[in-house]
Amino acid sequence: MTAMLTGKVALVTGAGSGIGRATAKVMAREGARLAISDVNVEGLERTASALRAGGTEVLAVTCDVTDEQAVAGMFEQIMGRFGRLHCAHNNAGVEGTYARLADTTVENLDLTYSVNLKGVFLCLREELKHMLESGGGAIVNTASIAGIEGARNLPAYVASKHACLGLTRTTALEYASRGIRVNAVCPGPIKTPMMDNIVASKPGLEGPMTQAVPMRRLGEPEEIAEAVAWLCSDRASYVTGHGMVIDGGMTAGS
Ligand code: NAI
Repeated sequence: MTAMLTGKVALVTGAGSGIGRATAKVMAREGARLAISDVNVEGLERTASALRAGGTEVLAVTCDVTDEQAVAGMFEQIMGRFGRLHCAHNNAGVEGTYARLADTTVENLDLTYSVNLKGVFLCLREELKHMLESGGGAIVNTASIAGIEGARNLPAYVASKHACLGLTRTTALEYASRGIRVNAVCPGPIKTPMMDNIVASKPGLEGPMTQAVPMRRLGEPEEIAEAVAWLCSDRASYVTGHGMVIDGGMTAGS
């Protein structure tokens, strides 16, 4: 079987760690040329080195997705290098602080919304513009199961991921007839530095969290990456507006 993304140019944000790094690697394996970005310069460089070592053409752009000018500049660089963008994974995100709503600060709400919602919005706007000009494309946003149900002690995060899913469905509707598919992945708990931070802020959380997953384990970043690559590929040609849950059965019922 031929690789899924041969000939495609793909962007992954938040590619310096966790799910973003895994997605960049799977997309490279599937034949894509990669634009990768992150605010974490060191993490981004590690991902870029791994991709280049595997023979993939990579453009690494340090970019804060909450900064409108920086995002516009990133797309200028992508177009300058590749001339085209076929696929995008809007994945950069933050978990914010772990606290109940009454103990959640406005600063935490602003930060979480700024990265998880405004960041996705700014990237989507550029992606849609460029994909419209060049005949279409496929976009996958990283939402969460926190985008479809509540999660105690993460009120700002949950609200931002519900918003991300709403943005996904709306843009899918708006651009479905113009050759652009927009989907989301909704991961359950995945073993990444973000999950390490959550577990570190609430010692004793990991055991009950693992028990809450019917498969009795946390997910691996690669298990999300495989779905993102598929959703970005032409094999998912009739899929749009979908929030794909990948959670070891966690939201299937009690
Ligand atoms: P991670 O912390 O390993 O990676 C997130 C990356 O986003 C980091 O490299 C970070 O530097 C980057 N980032 C943060 N703010 C940024 C900004 N303003 N501009 C550009 N890059 C920025 O976390 P993980 O787990 O890989 O998270 C990736 C996505 O998956 C996030 O959107 C997260 O909310 C989502 N997610 C994660 C789950 C988990 O259990 N790990 C579960 C469900 C969703």
